[in-house]
Amino acid sequence: MPFKNISACVFDAYGTLLDINSAAASCNDELGEKAGPLAEMWRAKQLQYTWLRSLMGKHTDFREVTESSLDFTLKALEISDSGLRARLLDFFKILTPFDEVKPMLEELGRAGIKTAILSNGSPEMLKSATTSAGIDGLLDMVLSVEEVGVYKPSPKVYQLAVDRLGIAAKNICFVSANGWDAAGASAFGFQVAWINRAGQVPEQLPFKPVVELKDLSGLTELVA
Ligand code: LAC
Repeated sequence: MPFKNISACVFDAYGTLLDINSAAASCNDELGEKAGPLAEMWRAKQLQYTWLRSLMGKHTDFREVTESSLDFTLKALEISDSGLRARLLDFFKILTPFDEVKPMLEELGRAGIKTAILSNGSPEMLKSATTSAGIDGLLDMVLSVEEVGVYKPSPKVYQLAVDRLGIAAKNICFVSANGWDAAGASAFGFQVAWINRAGQVPEQLPFKPVVELKDLSGLTELVA
């Protein structure tokens, strides 16, 4: 078994459990060929703003970061439609979960493994996302960086999961589709599963995941 002595699985939310591209895809008819570039630039800018604000010591919540990164993207793609802006932000609150998420969380529950989300998302965003995805009842805890006021990959964020679950880092499997988040969690001391949905090149950092998977469907048998 690749993972040893796992008591809890802690999941990243955006891109790992929830399909971040589903917001732009929901506005496909209006966006046309700009849907793909918009989704990609929006996400890249959203993450940049989390890192920039953390380095500047100027934290603001993920809702505001999501809005300002969308505004940058709409300007860059020369889209000026306030109705579309509002619709994209609304769809971001109710992102579609990946197909295997629900059965996987149910399996982990049956196996006696605790489950939690640890996300950049604000508590309100995570409440709405987990409720609309129908997974709120399958999670033992939903933790937001708002409790520590800094974004991933600050070790303060990963420490929050240790403190709130009362489980040592070495007994936690951290699961993320974001290579940089997987590296940050591994540097912190978690055992990490990198869900490489997009077939990305591994981060060239000396903090490696224990396993790389295509999706979440095989996770339970690796940890339980
Ligand atoms: C999150 C982002 C990083 O959920 O995907 O924290």
